[in-house]
Amino acid sequence: MSKIKIAIAGIGNCASSLIQGLYYYTPERTGDATVVPGLMHLEVGGYRPSDIEVVAAFDVDKRKVGKDVNEAIFEKPNCTTVFCADLPKSGTIVKMGNILDGVSEHMANYDDDRTFLLDGTASATKEDIVRELKESGAEILTNYMPVGSEAAAKFYAECALEAGVAFINNMPVFIASNPEWADRFKEKNLPIVGDDIKAQLGATITHRTLTDLFAKRGVVLERTYQLNTGGNTDFLNMKNQDRLESKKISKTEAVQSVAGKRLSDENIHIGPSDYIPWQNDNKLCFLRMEGDLFGGVPMNIELRLSVEDSPNSAGVAIDMIRCCKLALLNGEGGILHGASAYFCKHPPVQYTDDQAYEMTEEFIATRVSALNAAE
Ligand SMILES: NC(=O)c1ccc[n+]([C@@H]2O[C@H](COP(=O)([O-])OP(=O)(O)OC[C@H]3O[C@@H](n4cnc5c(N)ncnc54)[C@H](O)[C@@H]3O)[C@@H](O)[C@H]2O)c1
Repeated sequence: MSKIKIAIAGIGNCASSLIQGLYYYTPERTGDATVVPGLMHLEVGGYRPSDIEVVAAFDVDKRKVGKDVNEAIFEKPNCTTVFCADLPKSGTIVKMGNILDGVSEHMANYDDDRTFLLDGTASATKEDIVRELKESGAEILTNYMPVGSEAAAKFYAECALEAGVAFINNMPVFIASNPEWADRFKEKNLPIVGDDIKAQLGATITHRTLTDLFAKRGVVLERTYQLNTGGNTDFLNMKNQDRLESKKISKTEAVQSVAGKRLSDENIHIGPSDYIPWQNDNKLCFLRMEGDLFGGVPMNIELRLSVEDSPNSAGVAIDMIRCCKLALLNGEGGILHGASAYFCKHPPVQYTDDQAYEMTEEFIATRVSALNAAE
């Protein structure tokens, strides 16, 4: 079985966890187990995490550009937990990307170790990126631009279209959920999954699950907030309120869409709430939900969730990559609806997590059967 060849735009903390995971979940470690701690699927269509290979990588930080991607992931300002150190060299060198709006101006006001440091070389052109995608043999481009990078995210989506590779959008610029963009991927018969990755057990899935529980138990959710703090560059970038619009829509809609009754805007507050440097990649979520029980009697619940932000998304990313590969093998393009709804906060169509889970499992089973039948 050949490897799944991927390209990554943005070699930050999420890319670090993803790549570490490809070496952590080795056949030696997982053995014959069918269920492995930390993974939703050990195998998808016969592919294990170690069957994914990073063949192209793009960034704009001078500590990462020009380095082997397996070394670049451990460079500052990346600060996520190292759970798989001493990676072998991959042979894939991080290439200069196109800066566009990837780096917010306010990032210049922070210590070098905490912020992005631009590489001095000129931004790559679309032709440069497309050539690299084609020459590397990449099949899928997975996008990890900072929040608010409208132009940069669309630039990489455009490159994917032109190079003829599938696209996974892990961040909240609306591409899969924008019908015009989705149609362009459909026309080129290229799979697309997005938008804004939903972590394995993070604030969104927890908030959605509790919101669903309120609805199913007949408790009207009257008011709720979800305050999040962290100390990585994702949180530092999000100190710029001007970059937050789509992130707030994505996170808020993820909860609204499973509420029994939509809350008015003033009764729901969800957002990145502060940057606390010493937290590094540890994210804290403070959640409060207020509702009315039988007889209109009030109740509330408060919850504090503590997670390492980036590993929390990496297993989900690995599943999205493998679903894209199944679509590619089946000659299927356009939106992967089940995967988008199960793995992302802002899919083109929202489903409950139970429905999205069923759709994803069915997608995997039917595509694997089709491939087996064609053999
Ligand atoms: N951690 C999670 O669970 C999670 C969940 C949902 C969404 N996300 C989103 O995923 C994205 C990536 O998160 P992260 O924690 O890895 O961020 P990060 O800040 O660690 O990494 C971003 C990387 O992109 C690079 N970059 C900036 N502009 C670029 C450009 N124009 N071209 C190429 N590279 C560029 C930066 O140098 C940096 O290496 C963010 O938008 C985040 O909100 C993460």
